[in-house]
Amino acid sequence: MNFIESVESLEEQMAAPSALDRESVRRLKGDFIVLGAGGKMGPSLARRIRRAADAEGVPRRVIAVSRFSSLALVDELNRDGIETITCDLLNRDEVAGLPACANVLFLSGRKFGSTDRPDLTWATNTVIPAQVACHYRTSRIVAFSTGNVYPLVKLDSGGSVESDPPGPVGEYAQSCLGRERVFEYYSQERGTPCLLFRLNYAVDLRYGVLVDIARKVFAGQPIDLTVPALNAIWQGDANSYALRCLEQCSSPAGILNVTGPEIISVRRAAESFARLLHREPLFKGEEGEFALLSNAARCHSLLGRPEVTLEVLLEWVAHWVERGGVSLGKPTKFEVADGRF
Ligand SMILES: NC(=O)c1ccc[n+]([C@@H]2O[C@H](COP(=O)([O-])OP(=O)(O)OC[C@H]3O[C@@H](n4cnc5c(N)ncnc54)[C@H](OP(=O)(O)O)[C@@H]3O)[C@@H](O)[C@H]2O)c1
Repeated sequence: MNFIESVESLEEQMAAPSALDRESVRRLKGDFIVLGAGGKMGPSLARRIRRAADAEGVPRRVIAVSRFSSLALVDELNRDGIETITCDLLNRDEVAGLPACANVLFLSGRKFGSTDRPDLTWATNTVIPAQVACHYRTSRIVAFSTGNVYPLVKLDSGGSVESDPPGPVGEYAQSCLGRERVFEYYSQERGTPCLLFRLNYAVDLRYGVLVDIARKVFAGQPIDLTVPALNAIWQGDANSYALRCLEQCSSPAGILNVTGPEIISVRRAAESFARLLHREPLFKGEEGEFALLSNAARCHSLLGRPEVTLEVLLEWVAHWVERGGVSLGKPTKFEVADGRF
């Protein structure tokens, strides 16, 4: 097993483009812009595209746009050959000044604190998409969304599929459906090629559902079983799919569930971590019958299975937690069943 020992090798692992990523960047003409690039996924996605273009020797601008509260991140991205633009996407004039780009990856969003400032959550998740869709009406847009737009389903359902009706629980999830509807509307009305990228739980080693479970096991804290199962995917694989989904954009907008192939039992994941970390797992709460689960079979048949398997991911996470690897301190709150984040 090749363990990941440092933030540098973690970043390297997530930024390294696959052969399929490189081919996709070569085929995709024009520049790339990542909107909402300052969060957990944007930096590694921008780097992956930069490195894919460089490896193929095709001249492409890769531009990262965010409010960038961290100036250090701006420096790091610039050093890696990524242009940065500081922009509040809620500001219409600032959006109007963004450069034209053929390929748009839309990551901006707001989840946590959604119960304190629902107005800001709705503005971020619906007003920004409207401004972006208007500005980038002639571009391809991969709009990040979430499996939270589905209702909770029975564990034996196999997970929600793209054709299932949405049933978002709580205002965060409802605003994410709003984000989708806005992109759908502009795609339908103006012919903008778009793909709604319904992601369930990316895992970096510094955050993610599996990291949350592993940290609790390691600290001897009980794991809540109210939400008994979940989906997860290595963030590098999620970013690879996002990049390659630019070639899947269509008008009217298409939908793709993006996650790993397994429905992961929270109890079993905790037991695996307990074995790897030499701890006794503790549990709390009544094991529920319903969970937020997506079925990503269509994604896997279209774009191939994730490169990092669940087995490897569990080992990587356990090793990272055991050696005291850094945490972003951003718990996913996967155990929340009422949609209040
Ligand atoms: N990570 C996951 O497991 C996961 C799962 C399901 C769905 N998603 C979706 O995928 C997207 C990317 O995920 P993520 O984990 O990278 O999200 P994230 O950490 O929340 O990053 C989104 C970024 O958008 C930027 N943003 C927010 N409001 C903005 C504004 N007014 N103007 C400019 N930028 C703004 C913020 O960066 P600044 O502070 O620099 O502006 C924020 O860090 C999100 O929309 C999320 O809904 C993620």
